[in-house]
Amino acid sequence: MSVTIEPIKPLIGGLVRVDKSRLCDPDVVESVRAGLEDRGVLVFAEIGLKDEEQLAFTDRLGSRVNFTRQAPGSDVSAQDVYKVTLDKELNNEPDYVLGTFFWHVDGVTMDMAVPKATLLSARSLADRGGETEFANLIAAYEALSAEEKQEIDSLRVVHTLEASMRPVWGHPSSERRERWTRMAVPMEHPLVWKHPDGRKSLLLGTHADGIVGWPAAHGRALLWRLQQWAAQPDFVYRHSWRPGDLVMWNNEGLMHRVAPYTDGRRTMHRTTIAGREKPGHRARPEDLARTLEPV
Ligand SMILES: [Fe+2]
Repeated sequence: MSVTIEPIKPLIGGLVRVDKSRLCDPDVVESVRAGLEDRGVLVFAEIGLKDEEQLAFTDRLGSRVNFTRQAPGSDVSAQDVYKVTLDKELNNEPDYVLGTFFWHVDGVTMDMAVPKATLLSARSLADRGGETEFANLIAAYEALSAEEKQEIDSLRVVHTLEASMRPVWGHPSSERRERWTRMAVPMEHPLVWKHPDGRKSLLLGTHADGIVGWPAAHGRALLWRLQQWAAQPDFVYRHSWRPGDLVMWNNEGLMHRVAPYTDGRRTMHRTTIAGREKPGHRARPEDLARTLEPV
């Protein structure tokens, strides 16, 4: 066996033991793909990948995508490697990174297939904070009662970048809102995402801004309750980073967030694998107005 995956917690997390030189071997890639579905998040402790190695591994696992090419921190010199950092030299607009302090699923407010998986390498760390937490939205759905599942099974949710930025900028300027409009589009997705393999997951996050056909406050109240449900310790793995760690997660079945930090030295290099499932579509303007404003 050239790779073993050890469960970290009963419902989430796998520690991958593999020699770096074998990472792109077909049998390793197959085991990693299967482990990702099974464990949700995989940790390659202190594996120390360079950008080219991370991109090569990403390419073996699927087709790479850069869903934040327009976001601050995108770097044309390292195509498809996004630097997650508050370092002013690398990123002069921290909104997007500050938004990661709150639960989210990557790429949900883009009119494209939701990214399949994200790979994050720790290059330098914060003195305090910066741990990343992952919540298993498949396990969280499965643990609901039959009655609760039935109540939410056919609900549709509007997701907006503005909602994910609300905790960062309570009162954004119109210029800032304008910029967000260029970076993302309001999307409508099912609350319960039915995957081709038969599994179902909740599609939640701070970007979830209302339930179609429901009064705004009622929709947000249910979404926040479900988010709290899914963030219970049993469904969550919290990763304390060491330099060189690589962590990848199934973005279709997990939400994630980072523990707040202020240290500009913390820098993560992110690559993304394109998804094949597009659960939703652009939100219709009439639904947006009805869903997001109080009546
Ligand atoms: Fe993220």
